[in-house]
Amino acid sequence: MAGFVIKGGAPLKGEVRVSGAKNAALAIIPAALMCGGKVVLENIPRIRDVEIAAGIVNSLGAKARFDGGGRMSVDSSGLCEDAVRWSEAGKMRASYYFLGALTALFGKASIPVPGGCKIGPRPLDLHVKGLGTLGAKVTQGDGFISAAAERLVGSNVYLDIMSVGATINIMIAAVFAEGTTTIENPAKEPHVVDTANFLSAMGADIKGAGTDLIKVRGVSRLHDGVTYSIIPDQVEAGTFMTAAAATHGEVVVREVIPKHMESLSAKLMEAGVEVEAGDDSIRVAPGRALQAIHIKTSPYPGFPTDLHPQMSALLAAAEGRSTITEGIWEKRFQYVRELNRMEAGISVEGSMAVIRGGAKLAAANVAVHDLRAGAALIIGALAAKGVSRVRGVEPIDRGYEGIETKLAALGADIERVRDKGDK
Ligand code: EPZ
Repeated sequence: MAGFVIKGGAPLKGEVRVSGAKNAALAIIPAALMCGGKVVLENIPRIRDVEIAAGIVNSLGAKARFDGGGRMSVDSSGLCEDAVRWSEAGKMRASYYFLGALTALFGKASIPVPGGCKIGPRPLDLHVKGLGTLGAKVTQGDGFISAAAERLVGSNVYLDIMSVGATINIMIAAVFAEGTTTIENPAKEPHVVDTANFLSAMGADIKGAGTDLIKVRGVSRLHDGVTYSIIPDQVEAGTFMTAAAATHGEVVVREVIPKHMESLSAKLMEAGVEVEAGDDSIRVAPGRALQAIHIKTSPYPGFPTDLHPQMSALLAAAEGRSTITEGIWEKRFQYVRELNRMEAGISVEGSMAVIRGGAKLAAANVAVHDLRAGAALIIGALAAKGVSRVRGVEPIDRGYEGIETKLAALGADIERVRDKGDK
């Protein structure tokens, strides 16, 4: 396993360019299969989950190739498989998007049951309901989920929960469906809109992404030859903003969409941090002494659950008792035990993290449970005086492109090490 050795206590200073959004890339790469030819995707982050998505594309007879500089070409002219058999697919939650894309293309598809961060039961009932409403029969067995449909017919789908994955999966599956599909109560995350924009760039007829009602009018085919640049990563940007605040540093995050960061910016300012948004950048600097705040995570435009652990690491040092009520993932709190090894003073009461405040974080040896818990531990280690060791950082590599390089460029003393006894 790999780890990070971090000597904390120094403020982060400088500028960092945020990579393309993981959760947009993981939807757009499967969607790229639907045009039957070649597209060029720009601003694609070189992260583990994107490599898995590319591996799945290649296992299906299509070609996904990193062309350097954040560019990836996807050529689906050779696509010949409707079943994802590549075992790696089971390690990633977003492999479910291949179910929607392949069912739309071939009328049948199967994928290994998706994996991903263990932050709670991650049901797929809304994906199944949505595909079923369009006419697909979805079955599960032997570790696979399969869908089959004579033809997909547009229909009205109501989502009981504003599920990001189900919204995007149904939108993808509806692109070639006969007639019109409406998705009521859809997720509005930036990556939902980005995926809709990409599909529309290839000729899909999608209206209303980012609003309370998405309407997809089925088309017979999509055209290739598109070059599409995906949006910046809202969670990576938020992670760097929170790290800057936790180390009392002054950092400019570049190539972001400030509108996507509004809930975090508002909460940081409420806590006393100085936040200044430019056209495509945000500057974070020390303001008044950090104050306790209360946060509730909820679907966009609410406060993102994927920034909950990072904010806990920041608020540990705030004056007073803060709370973060988790509205999305019941097992989001896996980060608490490890962050408490740094004397963060966090307890969990039902679905709420209670952060005592006034903590002086202490360097410690900690282990990474999931992607965003890992990000929180890095922030804690950067804020704590002394040398911390963060073990098992592979989950972090699934969602952050070169995080130690970017942090080192901001003055962090961070080194990637192989755990003892590793080959
Ligand atoms: C996406 O997961 C993201 N992953 C997650 O980011 C993110 O935390 C989540 O959206 C919420 O924003 C990707 O985009 C690959 P959901 P997803 O469907 O699609 C329930 C990260 O760190 N639900 O919006 O799995 C579910 O249990 C990752 O980048 C059902 O009940 O999330 C949860 O409580 C972690 N039935 C809520 O909806 C379903 O069929 C939201 O889940 C689907 C979801």
